[in-house]
Amino acid sequence: MYKVMNYFLIWVLGSAASAVLAKQTFHGDKVFRAKLQTEGHVALIHKIKEAIKLDFWHPDTADRMVPHTEADFHVHSDQADSVQILLQQNSVPYEVLFHDLQEGIEAQLNNTKKSKRHSYTKYNTWEKIVEWTSKLTKKYPNLVQRIDIGKSVEGRPMYVLQVGNPDSATKAIFMDCGIHAREWISPAFCQWFVKELIKGKNNIRELVKSLTFYILPVFNIDGYVWTWTEDRMWRKNRSPSEDAKCVGTDLNRNFNISWCDIGSSDEPCSEIYCGAAAESEIETKNVASFIRSHVDSIKAYISFHSFSQMLLFPFSYTYELAPDHKELDEIAKGAVAELQGLYGTSYTYGPSASTIYPTAGSSDDWAYSLGIKYSFTFELRDEGKKGFLLPQSQIKATCQETTLAVAYIAKYVLDHST
Ligand SMILES: *[C@@H]1O[C@H](CO)[C@@H](O)[C@H](O)[C@H]1NC(C)=O
Ligand SMILES: *[C@@H]1O[C@H](CO)[C@@H](O)[C@H](O)[C@H]1NC(C)=O
Ligand SMILES: [Zn+2]
Repeated sequence: MYKVMNYFLIWVLGSAASAVLAKQTFHGDKVFRAKLQTEGHVALIHKIKEAIKLDFWHPDTADRMVPHTEADFHVHSDQADSVQILLQQNSVPYEVLFHDLQEGIEAQLNNTKKSKRHSYTKYNTWEKIVEWTSKLTKKYPNLVQRIDIGKSVEGRPMYVLQVGNPDSATKAIFMDCGIHAREWISPAFCQWFVKELIKGKNNIRELVKSLTFYILPVFNIDGYVWTWTEDRMWRKNRSPSEDAKCVGTDLNRNFNISWCDIGSSDEPCSEIYCGAAAESEIETKNVASFIRSHVDSIKAYISFHSFSQMLLFPFSYTYELAPDHKELDEIAKGAVAELQGLYGTSYTYGPSASTIYPTAGSSDDWAYSLGIKYSFTFELRDEGKKGFLLPQSQIKATCQETTLAVAYIAKYVLDHST
């Protein structure tokens, strides 16, 4: 009986038309957290996914679902009730993280008074971030330089901020934020961290005397702009595929390390599309070329994503342990302890493949393969309650605690790298 009911509901789901609008809104859309207990639960979500578009928040693709984990996914309003009935009928324990996604989107920007200026405690548009980079270089000419490392697909300049004393520093750390467009807390952190290096506490400011920081505040600029203007839930870059069927490559699957293997897809419409070739995307190529040309000085690579509250290190593309596993694990342990010490935010840490899920072609593995031993990826707040829609009211605390972890890593790298 249940089986018949399932088929019927899944058929109803598949036949619901979904209109494509210019500026997307999300009224009545729901985000579910399914607590998968059996293979049957996993199979059910796969069946639903075959019938309709499920926007996976965590893991980042349905293929990574396994029993005894949770799956967070976003469902269009037309189909939300049917999906909820299917979960109930099949006894899949679940929570509704968002009853109305549009409300969550509006609530995210809803704590501070409106102001046109750049702010470290707000989400800033790309235009404001560009203006901010230009102001910084004028205000701190001896400390901050702006490097144009190339253009995005749509022609926007990719600016890396070089923070440090160019005369004395010989070791460098490369950091990037916003590879995935919808993870807004990530660019917010890169901006915050630049501020800390310039006018933070002494122990942070001291780092720039002997280290150079290369900070790319927004990696996937076109995607980021798209999340402000068209679709808040966009993840990939904005390059059309060759057959123009779908737009966008997952830039964190496009690096030249075990490219398009595990945890990525060669299907252009997939959210984890690896692109036409390794470094096929101009954004990936620009970053990879910059890092290659500074590889002698770059001792650490740190990439910022959200969400999950994790500190990850190589490998992503295999369950094998990295040659430097023990040391990386010790550093991660120390960094996470620093972070937790401020507000008690709990982080897990470990190699990406076993701690989150395996992915090939990711930036951290690629940097590691280049000989940059200290390679880390942060998954910032939260653990899914707000997910990509972390309210602005949490920017400050998130950035403060993360700064402590990054400073810990930077200090370690300064003292231990050769
Ligand atoms: C925005 O904040 C105001 C005041 O706190 C509140 O009344 C309103 O419901 C909020 N709007 C949303 C969409 O959360
Ligand atoms: C990717 O790496 C392989 C092996 O190191 C190399 O032969 C190839 O040229 C690289 N491809 C690109 C696009 O850099
Ligand atoms: Zn991400």
